[in-house]
Amino acid sequence: MAGEMDAPLTVLGIESSCDDTAAAVLRAEESVVTILSSVVMGQAELHAAFGGVVPEIAARAHVEKLDHAVEASLAEAGVTLGDLDAIAVTAGPGLIGGVLSGVMLAKGLAVATGLPLIGVNHLAGHALTPRLTDGLGFPYLMLLVSGGHCQFLRVEGAENFTRLGGTIDDAPGEAFDKAAKLLGLPQPGGPSVETVAQAGDPARFAFPRPLLDRPGCDLSFSGLKTALMRGRDALVAEKGGLTRADRADLCASFQAAVADVLAEKSARALAASRGVTAFAVAGGVAANAALRARLLDVAKAAGTRFVAPPLALCTDNAAMIAWAGIERFRLGHRDDVTLAARPRWPLDTAAPAMLGAGKRGAKA
Ligand code: KG4
Ligand code: ZN
Repeated sequence: MAGEMDAPLTVLGIESSCDDTAAAVLRAEESVVTILSSVVMGQAELHAAFGGVVPEIAARAHVEKLDHAVEASLAEAGVTLGDLDAIAVTAGPGLIGGVLSGVMLAKGLAVATGLPLIGVNHLAGHALTPRLTDGLGFPYLMLLVSGGHCQFLRVEGAENFTRLGGTIDDAPGEAFDKAAKLLGLPQPGGPSVETVAQAGDPARFAFPRPLLDRPGCDLSFSGLKTALMRGRDALVAEKGGLTRADRADLCASFQAAVADVLAEKSARALAASRGVTAFAVAGGVAANAALRARLLDVAKAAGTRFVAPPLALCTDNAAMIAWAGIERFRLGHRDDVTLAARPRWPLDTAAPAMLGAGKRGAKA
């Protein structure tokens, strides 16, 4: 293909939908894409005392940090606003105060420079990342597993997603975070639980495998957290406290239940998605080694390639937003100052609405 589609593009991406303030600059030439910079400013310390992301605190922090993130990303990339071809910004779904802060900044920059503005769906950013990192062709199956998201998507095009299933309550990362809180382990819970689980017996506690008895690819994680709490309370009632081994066994059994459920539902999603080029994962929970090993096995058993982008591009970042912006730009999409910030923005508008909007914002 030739012409406008292959014209080199330098695009600024802006992300502020949850608890990371991020900006990145990407350059796309022909089929080669280079991440010139990717700045992520976290807010973990601001929310640490509250056991979850506090929307008002997040919004205020985004307002304070966004300018700095954008300046740093331009400086690191060695470009100025005048070198850019477009500005891509997360326009949803997410915590509305944060999304608004990013969208307002992007509009201001677009108006000041005359550059095209491209609103990007945060979930599309995650879902299209394997094309940035591994050049995946459509269609492929994506499992998004993070603190705020959990869904299976058949990615057919940069603006064409079919949701095969998702969580009906908590996201897995949220479940890991709550599990850590119940056991007095530090946040974020995923890495803490995984570390403690290494010394544990995954078979000691028979935690439930929610929704495995039901057909389809929907998942549920809130019951697991309750089961973990009951297991903990029974031990405390019996012995007055938890030993190191108890804690390790609780973590290992919890993690095994999450991995079992995700592996089985992934197998089902793969069986339901003929002709895919790969099975890809994204989101912070994809960092979990035990889970990754299980998902790799599932892909192997189905004869499908398994792709997990590097962790820095699996978790929230703005490089994925700039990339999704480039994909939309190439399809001719342009926004203007009427671009709306959306707390909810399902990727697959034909799929039934998802239930629940956890601490980390709407799950779309
Ligand atoms: O994608 P992410 O950085 O942010 C969003 O939620 O969008 O994901 C963060 C989540 C947290 O809930 C964290 O506990 C979880 O990912 N996580 C993990 C691991 N590392 C991070 N969960 C399980 N095992 C891990 N190693
Ligand atoms: Zn995310």
